[in-house]
Amino acid sequence: MNLDRKTFLRRLGVGAVGLAAGASTRGEQRAAAAAAWPVYSEREPEPYWTAIRAQYLLTPGFAYLNTGGLGPAAGPVLDIYDRTSRRLQEKSETGHALFAEARKVLARFLGAEPTEISFVRNATEGNGIIAAGLALKEGDEVIFDDHAHPGGAFPWINQAKQRGVVVRMFEPSVADAAENLARIVALITPRTRVVQVSHVTAPTGIVLPVVAIAKLCRERGIWFHIDGAQSAGMFPFELRAIGCDSFATSGHKWIGGPHETGVLFIRREKLDEVAPTMVGAYSSDQADLSMAMAFVAGTQRHEYGTRNAAAVVALAAAADTQERIGRERIAARGRAMVARVRAGIAALPDVDILTPANPELSAAMIAFRTPRIAYDKLFGRLLGEHRLRCRPVSEQKLNAVRVSLHLCNGLDECDRLVAAMTAILKTT
Ligand SMILES: Cc1ncc(COP(=O)(O)O)c(C=O)c1O
Repeated sequence: MNLDRKTFLRRLGVGAVGLAAGASTRGEQRAAAAAAWPVYSEREPEPYWTAIRAQYLLTPGFAYLNTGGLGPAAGPVLDIYDRTSRRLQEKSETGHALFAEARKVLARFLGAEPTEISFVRNATEGNGIIAAGLALKEGDEVIFDDHAHPGGAFPWINQAKQRGVVVRMFEPSVADAAENLARIVALITPRTRVVQVSHVTAPTGIVLPVVAIAKLCRERGIWFHIDGAQSAGMFPFELRAIGCDSFATSGHKWIGGPHETGVLFIRREKLDEVAPTMVGAYSSDQADLSMAMAFVAGTQRHEYGTRNAAAVVALAAAADTQERIGRERIAARGRAMVARVRAGIAALPDVDILTPANPELSAAMIAFRTPRIAYDKLFGRLLGEHRLRCRPVSEQKLNAVRVSLHLCNGLDECDRLVAAMTAILKTT
């Protein structure tokens, strides 16, 4: 079947941004695969998921269970990246005009307005822009979870060193949302200026109650920043509805964008409270070098200089693809795979599952440990003997292994993991 380019891209789930970037012969070769794209069936969903999984370039037999570390990008997304990059090279263009459409896609994806979105290099950069940009004085306090990734914690520790900001941390609770809220409330003092949480914690995948925290912060006049490196693309949410002041995420994890992509959201009403720390062309559209240097209207003032437009276009294509698959459907699939692993692992002797089963507190990641073998050895055996790439969890002496389950994974890999754990425990 010979499909025109538009139909082909539509079938692959690549929307307007991808189309703007143009297609090539190589892309059209995938039309045959697109023609065979299955319709989702509630009764028999596996062919659908198998077809989506087949889009990834992952080595056959190698189970990649670490989207939380670095998410693979699907072949069609990489094709868009490639094509856009090459097309821009034809006339040596920056492709800056392509950002506007991509901004719309990511705004829709995150439940924000396009002017609230800035493209950054990764979640760390977004977190850093907030930490460095807020007007904090010596003695001002920031609260965050002690399961924060260095990309979420170091920007604040840096502020502690540079500006004398005081850092206070709480341990995320596995009990319930109310307990997590209570732990934050207990740390609030008259000097608290910022609360930041990992939307989903990196070590064990605990989902924190961002809506309730946003309300609390609003009532107390405290800035609320979310480190969403692990949440965007894992399950759907709307930033404006959550009510946070700012949010940063990686594009190269659960959204499935190319490496070195990320998004920073700053709520329109709060934009001017974050002083840009890195500026240049595009931060201001002023043509001369006068001292006025008024910033451009939106969060995009935090973008500066020449950028990799192909990466941004491909990130938007990845987000678009998820919307076409169905965000709720993806979230449910992740949860179902985690449930399958949980059921298998829970039946084994001496295994301690650290991620709560409560659906309010967890989604598509699960971490577990066993007193019989240290986390790094367990990680090494799963990889070396069973070709299962998990993520070792050394943080806070948790001594665990973390598993992320997303579009590149399948039920067979869940079963392989349980079988591998069974085999390892038999010989340990
Ligand atoms: C919660 C959290 N924040 C930040 C990061 C850092 O992400 P990036 O390397 O994309 O900046 C990670 C990475 O795993 C993370 O889990």
